[in-house]
Amino acid sequence: MTAALSATSANKTLDLGPAVELVSKEEGHRQPLAPEFVSVEDFSPLEVAYDFGRVRREDIEAGPRNIWRYKKLLPVPSTVEETPNTEPGCTRLVRADRLAKELGLKRVWVKDDTGNPTHSFKDRVVAVALAAAREFGFEVLACPSTGNLANATAAAAARAGWRSVVLIPKSLERAKILTTAVYDGDLIAVDGNYDDVNRLATELAAEHPKWAFVNVNVRPYYSEGSKTLAYEVAEQLGWRIPEQIVVPIASGSQLTKVDKGFRELGQLGLVDASPYKVFGAQATGCSPVSTAFRNGHDVVQPVKPDTIARSLAIGNPADGPYVLDVVNRTGGAIEDVTDEEVVEGIRLLARTEGIFTETAGGVTVATAKKLVETGKLDPDAETVLLITGDGLKTLDAVENHVGPKATVPPSAEAVAKALGY
Ligand SMILES: Cc1ncc(COP(=O)(O)O)c(C=O)c1O
Repeated sequence: MTAALSATSANKTLDLGPAVELVSKEEGHRQPLAPEFVSVEDFSPLEVAYDFGRVRREDIEAGPRNIWRYKKLLPVPSTVEETPNTEPGCTRLVRADRLAKELGLKRVWVKDDTGNPTHSFKDRVVAVALAAAREFGFEVLACPSTGNLANATAAAAARAGWRSVVLIPKSLERAKILTTAVYDGDLIAVDGNYDDVNRLATELAAEHPKWAFVNVNVRPYYSEGSKTLAYEVAEQLGWRIPEQIVVPIASGSQLTKVDKGFRELGQLGLVDASPYKVFGAQATGCSPVSTAFRNGHDVVQPVKPDTIARSLAIGNPADGPYVLDVVNRTGGAIEDVTDEEVVEGIRLLARTEGIFTETAGGVTVATAKKLVETGKLDPDAETVLLITGDGLKTLDAVENHVGPKATVPPSAEAVAKALGY
């Protein structure tokens, strides 16, 4: 038990809602709820186990228009909405007919998570991590990040009145550095790639018992935040699970939790437990999970990332093997796409649906296209694409590809000439 937890327990009982225990992913060893992330029994990642009791659609529907409407399905206090957080979630599910036509799919929905407070799905995971960290008695919110998590952590800490310590690879996109620094926490640029930054964070987490590293020592709680994507998609479809979903992969956490979310809804009788397939998307320049899938492996060989999709540039993905399990179990597939295809994916989504995504979304759209072309996505099945981040943060990816058609003097004639009429 860490110092932070014992300090908390001495003063009050832990309230993490329906969460009852931590369970190891490999052998199912159980241990009490604590800010720990690896099982001492089998060294596999720990996951939250619940006693949900009865959860009804009506209770969820009557909840706030943010992820706390699902608080009875998350490891957060029963009074979670009473403390300041960024209140993410309830983002749009857009029926994307024009994109569907271009992709050769019958029905496509885009889950547009650019609408979150710091414009990515990371606000979901950080909100849950902050709520749990508060309960455990932590005082600082920290993370190693590929960019979006840096934004979300710094903003959530600011809103809660906490100090933040955010570690990023120094080569990150300028926009992601500025949109983190503006929240005025402690932002440290590290001379190394994300995997170096992650190792450093694990070392620091051991040295600083009051620092909650959202994706390290409170990772079991943090990662549960991604389940809300599955809950929202199902609720927005009228309490239905889509037949196919395409999810971008960095550490792989999001993909495994989307699956967990769908399964829980079925088990709780909130939806019909209909079959669905989960598909994974990576950039070829960082495609360890896609490569393992292609080769039929159940372990993931780490790689050195080299791609414009920097938010997905994790060469040694913690949840890689569990992604393979989910994709194989559900009958999905994983593909990867080149940087050129990523840019085309960004532009295709913008052109057809008016949604500007960052490189991770470009990976998702381009991978969906490839999965259709290779016959892995069923064109007749209803498909959801998770668009998890905002294009304004990765302008450098498109700046050499788009721009004004012409620069003209302020005259109608010049415009007519430029437009060719
Ligand atoms: C925009 C975006 N989408 C998807 C992901 C993938 O998340 P995960 O690490 O859970 O696989 C990330 C990770 O940083 C991200 O920033």
